Amino acid sequence: MIIPNNIKNIVILTGAGISAESGIKTFRDHGGLWENYDIMDVASVEGFNKDPKLVYEFYNARRAQLQKPEISPNAAHLALAELEKKFKGRVTIVTQNVDNLHERAGSHNILHMHGELLKMRCTKSLKVFAITGELNQSTVCPCCKVVGNLRPNIVWFGEVPNGLSEIDQLLRECDLFISIGTSGEVYPAASFVMAAKQSGAHTLEQNLSPTKLSREFDSQFTGSASIEVPRLVKLILSP
Ligand code: APR
Repeated sequence: MIIPNNIKNIVILTGAGISAESGIKTFRDHGGLWENYDIMDVASVEGFNKDPKLVYEFYNARRAQLQKPEISPNAAHLALAELEKKFKGRVTIVTQNVDNLHERAGSHNILHMHGELLKMRCTKSLKVFAITGELNQSTVCPCCKVVGNLRPNIVWFGEVPNGLSEIDQLLRECDLFISIGTSGEVYPAASFVMAAKQSGAHTLEQNLSPTKLSREFDSQFTGSASIEVPRLVKLILSP
């Protein structure tokens, strides 16, 4: 049985692999982001405090790339948006990605557990503001009206991801858990499949190749997300 009957609540965890075919680098694949940067230099509070300019530039470059005309949602993002639109039950995307490709594909029920590239945050008020251009030490904070208080609205290593209690509830209620394009290297996202199984959910993994978590899943859809995710969505919508 690939897809059980009477599914009501679907939780979909996405990682960098779903955006790879849109032209956005993953982190740990060959040629990935972490080949050129030390994670702790650009994705930790310590790194930001030590060299804020490097960190601002790292996220400014990724924010600029995300808004290039050649970067757009691929068939996998679009298929998930169609699933949310046509599926009779609830579809929630919990994404580790900080790009806005799920939104641009038409999905609405999205939880960015690692933050968003197109948002910045005041370190004093914790208020979040949209940003499309460059963020740096001379950007005037919209709430404090001074410079130096703003940081990328990204969850860095050592920080608590967004929405964990909501995610916990979603996993308790879900009857189908799908993981797409994530290496399963980073917790707590890597633990979600176990939580879903404890709730009795059926679990599917979509990836280019097996991951260290593959044995936890009921079945695999191995291949490119742009091919396999539309195929999976078709199976769910017309069982
Ligand atoms: N289709 C499906 N899967 C793909 C594709 C593709 N076209 N291309 C790559 N993948 C898979 C790779 O096989 C790999 O398992 O996507 C995964 C990417 O893994 P990572 O680069 O580790 O990205 P991710 O799992 O999202 O990382 C999790 O780590 O660095 C932090 O905060 C960062 O959110 C990120 C988190």
